[in-house]
Amino acid sequence: MIDLNEIREKALKAVADVDSLQKLEEFRILYLGKKGPISEAMKEIPSLPQSERPLFGQEVNKIKKELEEKLNEKKIGLDSSSKKEVKADFDITLPGKKFPRGKKHPITTTMEELVSIFKRLGFSVATGPDVETEYYNFEALNIPAHHPSRDMWSTFWLENGMLLRTHTSPVQIRTMEKEKPPLAYIIPGRVYRRDADATHSPVFHQLEGLMVDTEMTFSDLKGILSTFLRAVFGNERKVRFRPSYFPFTEPSAEVDVECFVCKGKGCRLCSSSGWLEILGSGMIDPNVFKYVGYDPEKYSGFAFGLGIERIAMLKHGIDDIRLFYENDMRFLAQF
Ligand code: FA5
Repeated sequence: MIDLNEIREKALKAVADVDSLQKLEEFRILYLGKKGPISEAMKEIPSLPQSERPLFGQEVNKIKKELEEKLNEKKIGLDSSSKKEVKADFDITLPGKKFPRGKKHPITTTMEELVSIFKRLGFSVATGPDVETEYYNFEALNIPAHHPSRDMWSTFWLENGMLLRTHTSPVQIRTMEKEKPPLAYIIPGRVYRRDADATHSPVFHQLEGLMVDTEMTFSDLKGILSTFLRAVFGNERKVRFRPSYFPFTEPSAEVDVECFVCKGKGCRLCSSSGWLEILGSGMIDPNVFKYVGYDPEKYSGFAFGLGIERIAMLKHGIDDIRLFYENDMRFLAQF
């Protein structure tokens, strides 16, 4: 006669002692395998009296299920503890992998430096869209259609009279439309022109400045720009204001900084002039005020537009603007 209780107790004790996946497999074969006591008990069923068969069968199945459940529980426990063992196998004293550290692009750092200088002088920051209308880029800046002065900016035209802004000056108009004087703004941004040589890039950056109030004069313009130039280049660097022309300012002036390659003697970089031009400026033309609804009898102001790449070239002694845009790590890593 088979003692089912004895089988059950022995098996439960055995499974409780299992401490590895290998021993668990041995247990499975021993107790639940074809030759194990459970299978043997099943084989006994036909030899039992008819009346005892169902109860005995049920009892065997119950024990079989119980043992299978225990086996599965044990397996899950052993699986997760074996994973922990694998983790502990890593050598945490090995040196980590190093990734090269990124840096800000020299144009970004120059831009940030200029913005911070002007913020200290009391200017706020405004921005505008890169894709502009003819109205903002030209017309409201006193540059009518078909006027020859449009040739000063070699324009990338888009469809439907839209264009890539050729300077940050359209944002002067957008800012004055929104605000009333007194105001002082700088406008940093990317601009686009059909230009390409050692000092001209088709995509480059400008920083526009704009100050409007009653009784502003050319001395205010010169004072602000001189303070700015000293902050960027120090007292030693030679700079000059040179009379110039822009349709949206009158009078107008450009600022040049002594060429760092030839020290003013004249070379290829500065087209033999000894100077590099960094900005255009002037007193805002009364016609521009009319476009934005300011009374030109009451208000006056000045504006300027700086070339960021040119300033970065002068600061770091870079003799070709294209180096900024070639993504050569040997160049960029120096900053
Ligand atoms: C202008 O763009 C005027 N909007 C500036 C201005 C603003 C005048 C407000 C008066 C009042 P200009 O085309 O000269 O002017 O450009 C200004 C500066 O941008 C130049 O002095 C130069 O430093 C820089 N620049 C011009 N073209 C390029 C180019 N292709 N690549 C790099 N820098 C350039």
